[in-house]
Amino acid sequence: MTKGDDMSDTAPRLEPLNKIMITSRDFSEYLEMFGLTENDVLAGPVLDCAAGASDFALRARGLGASVVSVDPLYDRRPDELRGRVLDELDIGELRAREAPQLYDLSWAGGLDGYLGMRRSAATAFLDDYERAWSGGGPRPYQPAALPDLPFGEGQFRLGLVPNLLFTYANLFDRDWHRAALLELLRVCDEVRVHPLTDTSGRFYPELDLLLAELAERGAECQLIDVDYRLRRERSRTLVCRKGQGSV
Ligand SMILES: C[S@@+](CC[C@H](N)C(=O)[O-])C[C@H]1O[C@@H](n2cnc3c(N)ncnc32)[C@H](O)[C@@H]1O
Repeated sequence: MTKGDDMSDTAPRLEPLNKIMITSRDFSEYLEMFGLTENDVLAGPVLDCAAGASDFALRARGLGASVVSVDPLYDRRPDELRGRVLDELDIGELRAREAPQLYDLSWAGGLDGYLGMRRSAATAFLDDYERAWSGGGPRPYQPAALPDLPFGEGQFRLGLVPNLLFTYANLFDRDWHRAALLELLRVCDEVRVHPLTDTSGRFYPELDLLLAELAERGAECQLIDVDYRLRRERSRTLVCRKGQGSV
């Protein structure tokens, strides 16, 4: 039931990454990959978990939304984080240029247009991170790592998990994925995860088992089609809500 995002066996593939990249997808990509409108983002507190160097939270807050971004990297000083993010942009760019045929970037004006979007999102994030680091106000960027989140039960209406779960299936096993999703469902009423494929484009092989385990804990999960096109394959997103039972 859940297959279909996978590429055919003869399709070209990149090797899966052996380390987690720090990337900077922008606000519009978040809306598309999670199948959201601006109004959805404004409807209640949002958690961006594995936020990396995205400008999603900054731009959502600019519209009036309440967003907290989480990433283990957010214990780094701004100058240190800036160096890492800029280095990783270069690495990501080299990787994208290795196999441009895997991507459908016509909507972004091709690969160069897309890489430009990533750079400007990263720059906006880094400037905001620096302001937040030295400011004395609420902390929009909080250091934490799944499967343990420093938040209360039901603190967020919506939790977004962009490019961590399933993406690094070679680094995290199913127990970790289950623990991460249960923790997200503890702090969020609804959780959306994208993509369902790893960094080589391979569909997460244990999704059916994982969803059955979550259903046993009372979670209601479904896959939705979304318009986001980065890789050429079909694009779907996992949506999980707390059910009547206990999660
Ligand atoms: C591929 S980036 C995604 C960044 C951004 N959300 C995007 O879509 O471009 C993955 C991020 O996950 C963070 N990360 C690694 N381990 C994590 C964990 N256990 N919990 C939460 N975030 C983690 C990394 O530091 C990295 O910034």
